[in-house]
Amino acid sequence: MSIAMATEAPGAFQGTLTDKLKEQFDAGLLSGQELRPDFTIAQPVHRYTSIDHAIWRKLYERQAEMLRGRVSDEFLQGLATLGMEKDRVPDFDQLNETLMRATGWQVVAVPGLVPDEVFFEHLANRRFPASWWMRKPEQLDYLQEPDCFHDVFGHVPLLINPVFADYMEAYGKGGLKAAGLGALDMLSRLYWYTVEFGLIRTEQGLRIYGAGIVSSQGESIYSLDSASPNRIGFDVRRIMRTRYRIDTFQKTYFVIDSFEQLFDATRPDFAPLYEELRAQPTLGAGDVAPGDQVLNVGTREGWADTEDI
Ligand code: PHE
Ligand code: CO
Repeated sequence: MSIAMATEAPGAFQGTLTDKLKEQFDAGLLSGQELRPDFTIAQPVHRYTSIDHAIWRKLYERQAEMLRGRVSDEFLQGLATLGMEKDRVPDFDQLNETLMRATGWQVVAVPGLVPDEVFFEHLANRRFPASWWMRKPEQLDYLQEPDCFHDVFGHVPLLINPVFADYMEAYGKGGLKAAGLGALDMLSRLYWYTVEFGLIRTEQGLRIYGAGIVSSQGESIYSLDSASPNRIGFDVRRIMRTRYRIDTFQKTYFVIDSFEQLFDATRPDFAPLYEELRAQPTLGAGDVAPGDQVLNVGTREGWADTEDI
């Protein structure tokens, strides 16, 4: 995730970054540690405590079990190919040996969310910025900022997949362009509803591929099993107009048929699209709109009227 993903208020690091995120970023930067100009640091592998490793192990076990029959085959394949550590927080250098060989991607350590353009620049060069720090024991089930488990377990396995790997690089390049066009709000929604919260249709049924779902026990169940949210066929224009919630499970999931579909649909120049869509009203996170390819309309059960949905 970049800052834009977390706040829907993209902008300068100094300006719009909330105090909370700034605080979290500073906390992720250990004293005496060098912050490089690209906002990366050397992963402080010696600083992980036995509690950090235990939290990794617990989350890994829990999600590996939970995701069987729920997550996309591509994700499972990536996880297996990476041979990711189960018992302790992975060493990024070790992961990178396999990852670089497979698709030329690498994971780089950061103290927390980085400015949008820094984030895009990394993706455009096939570097995935991952928070090095682990969530605290009381945050096992939920935290708003991306920690090492979300970033590494959630995001890295799909970077082994050649098509998804290309999509992520293209997204980074598209981000740099969108920033210049003042269109980050629209492009961020695409990231949110695909990379973070995407579902994929397979012959065996719906499967998860979004990292925000993959790293969350609760949403791994909810996204597939709950009758409350909408599930709608992937459509770039539709997604770019759809607001999202960062503080609840999603109100709508968008469903792709394949990673090829995702990559092909995002290949055209977005500049004219931004122009066109800017003139149209946005849609609420839980809206169903004319022209939607609806897989199911959510019951909206449990949603408060006062929410922005
Ligand atoms: N085609 C997009 C553009 O012209 C770039 C992009 C590719 C954005 C893939 C997101 C995902 O801006
Ligand atoms: Co993320």
